[in-house]
Amino acid sequence: MPQNMQKILSLNPIVPVITIEDLAHAKPLANALLEGGISIMEITLRTPTALSAIKLINQECPGITVGAGTIESVSSIQSAVEAGAKFLVSPGTTKPLLDAVHYHAIPLLPGVVTPTEVMALQDEGFQYVKFFPAEAAGGTAMLKALSGPFPNMKFCPTGGIDNTNLMDYLTLKNVVSVGSSWVVASDLIKNNNWSEITRRARDTLNLIKMRTNE
Ligand code: 3PG
Repeated sequence: MPQNMQKILSLNPIVPVITIEDLAHAKPLANALLEGGISIMEITLRTPTALSAIKLINQECPGITVGAGTIESVSSIQSAVEAGAKFLVSPGTTKPLLDAVHYHAIPLLPGVVTPTEVMALQDEGFQYVKFFPAEAAGGTAMLKALSGPFPNMKFCPTGGIDNTNLMDYLTLKNVVSVGSSWVVASDLIKNNNWSEITRRARDTLNLIKMRTNE
């Protein structure tokens, strides 16, 4: 079951990490990302609107795969599953979270920083994990160091990543995609600036394509 995360992350090299305050923003935001070529979104459960936004997007925007982020408790897993989230992202990992994820059979991208945490998740059968908070926890140097003892573990670094440093991460062999709020910055959402979100999505994907083919 944890392996399903591979398929989900392969949809895009960047996962937009979204904080949404107003339900009216949900559909235009999903459509702006789709127009820019991004077909995945992580809505963090940090606002009262988050679950309703996941539900709405899941029902009305079938082209995008919507997941729930900032999963910290078993009850938030239940709520996210009920809202129709297709995957979950957690900043760290606890045994009750892993048990609940197995029970609901929903893919999880669990957060790690240290070798001990990577080993614990490897033991649980995970091959895809979130490296969070990426920049604060050692950035690309830490990921390079982890690739030695853990050659099969794939990371989605998140935290402090934007258009200026995302290629530093994506060129690492053990990085499968990056999480970032830059494409979907809060001020752009608040100001209904959907064209800028589309532009950032498209420019980011073009940059990744160009650099990957070099
Ligand atoms: C988060 O959970 O806030 C993510 O790590 C996003 O981080 P960012 O805002 O630095 O991209």
